[in-house]
Amino acid sequence: MYTKITDTIYYIGVNDHDIDLFEGQYVVPNGMAYNSYVIKDEKTAVMDTVDIRKSEEWLANLDEVLQGKAPDYLVVTHLEPDHAGSIKIFRDKYPDTALVMTMKAKSMIPQFFGDEIVTNCRGVVEGETLELGAHTLTFVTAPMVHWPEVMVAYDNRDKVLFAADAFGKFGALDAQEDWTCEARRYYFNIVGKYGAQVQALLKKAADLDIQIICPLHGPILSENLGFYIDKYNTWSSYTPEDDGVLIAVASIYGNTMKAAKKLAEILTEKGAKKVVVTDLARDDMAEALEDAFRYDKVVFAASSYDGGVFPFMEEFLHHLKAKNYQKRKVALVENGSWGPTAAKTMKAIIEQMKEIEIIEPVVTIKSTMKDDTIESFEVLADSLLK
Ligand code: FEO
Repeated sequence: MYTKITDTIYYIGVNDHDIDLFEGQYVVPNGMAYNSYVIKDEKTAVMDTVDIRKSEEWLANLDEVLQGKAPDYLVVTHLEPDHAGSIKIFRDKYPDTALVMTMKAKSMIPQFFGDEIVTNCRGVVEGETLELGAHTLTFVTAPMVHWPEVMVAYDNRDKVLFAADAFGKFGALDAQEDWTCEARRYYFNIVGKYGAQVQALLKKAADLDIQIICPLHGPILSENLGFYIDKYNTWSSYTPEDDGVLIAVASIYGNTMKAAKKLAEILTEKGAKKVVVTDLARDDMAEALEDAFRYDKVVFAASSYDGGVFPFMEEFLHHLKAKNYQKRKVALVENGSWGPTAAKTMKAIIEQMKEIEIIEPVVTIKSTMKDDTIESFEVLADSLLK
């Protein structure tokens, strides 16, 4: 099945509700969409393929649009297998269709499909164009958003930006869900490390008159584009989006969690706009990471373990560091029954991040929360909300 985006641009992407983990690690309760498009003009261009998991359905959609005509071009904006996975199947079916991709992609594609695939493959550079008739595509490179070979394509006729992974989200297109939440979780977990490169792409895009954004995941955006562009600007500049506190907890027997919930109560009483408590062992860590970037303040609360910190917290901090977590105010709460070591271990990782203010003093709980813990929380809450 296909849908029309404009009189000559068609959506031929597919939903994937069978996938357990996207990119081998992210839970996607509402599935995933792999988007692909066709531009019908004097020349016909297919814009990206889909994950090989759904190639049959995608080829059927493509057939419906092409009505027996072979396409002239397959434009590959991104080589990651969730989009490029069906290129070989496509090439077998349409051996005379030219592939169009960046020079970098052309150098990488044999790694996936062998040397044969670069036969009839055009490598393009920044600003190069592809004439289709009434439509002209202009290619704009977007290195590290979020692979090195990425480009986006701008169609001057319908003012469409084919945006590769930018402006994408988790979730199939038939899922009834808010854009921002799953777009934010997608952004920080997948593209988060590359804020500077996203900023560079936004600057290039600012020169274009864009009416429609066609991303490789998530819905086609055609209204209120300023909203989405503003979100991307906030996220990629590592600016906190909301005033609030995430309390990320790694608790062994529940005593650290009980204390964290008390701290949440105190923060709320003292006027915190929003307080979110997450259990790093049981809740989705990708969502915890999203919230750490979303809010301007985070409390890391963890049990000590094996002379270090309970592993779920260590994993979480390493994820944050890998995604370039920065520009936030944080506080540390540790628990230990004999020699507490969690705070020292957490601090050693956090100190490797940029522009993180660590509130002192650290709160140390000895096994279970007591009156002195609550007094320390009062002080910590005041410092955090100051
Ligand atoms: Fe949607 Fe980077 O692949």
